[in-house]
Amino acid sequence: MTRAKTPNFDPLEFRAALGQFATGVTVITTRTASGQPIGITASSFNSVSLDPPLVLWSLATKSASMPVFRANSHYVVNVLAASQLDLCRRFATIKGDRFAGVSHAAGDTGMPVLDGALAWFECHNRSRYDEGDHVIFVGEVERCGVREGAGPIAPLVFQAGGFHTLGPLE
Ligand SMILES: Cc1cc2nc3c(=O)[nH]c(=O)nc-3n(C[C@H](O)[C@H](O)[C@H](O)COP(=O)(O)O)c2cc1C
Repeated sequence: MTRAKTPNFDPLEFRAALGQFATGVTVITTRTASGQPIGITASSFNSVSLDPPLVLWSLATKSASMPVFRANSHYVVNVLAASQLDLCRRFATIKGDRFAGVSHAAGDTGMPVLDGALAWFECHNRSRYDEGDHVIFVGEVERCGVREGAGPIAPLVFQAGGFHTLGPLE
């Protein structure tokens, strides 16, 4: 296998190009060894496999939550609704207790499921891959669910550094 060429772009150009890819937004939650709920906002979520049911997301190596996510047996991927932009910001920025005042319930795995999430995936922490400045987490989904509502619920969408929601194309 040949080696990759040296990039001819700088990190800002790379980020700008990546940012064109519209994603949903998730909050990934788990618990510290003492049982305190923690979470981080992540847009790197994606599906991997239907059988077995696998998903992935990636976490910056410098993340303060890394030791907990590496060590824990389970975490939950909570898919945010457009009405949950405040949670997106809270779980990306607050340094202290991000769960203060955030309504949630323990899922079957005991990990926190956020009230109002569009969908959630309770994952076994199946494998981790160190790649560059991130760690790719592959989760094996043990439980999942979709929020019940009267009709479709608008998702939170992240693109080009801004927050959006979806409208029908035709
Ligand atoms: C929309 C959005 C998406 C993000 N996606 C990711 C991601 O996929 N992986 C990641 O490591 N950080 C991501 N972040 C940044 C983290 O949420 C942020 O750095 C957080 O403070 C990390 O928490 P910690 O350092 O306390 O663990 C994202 C932030 C925003 C606003």
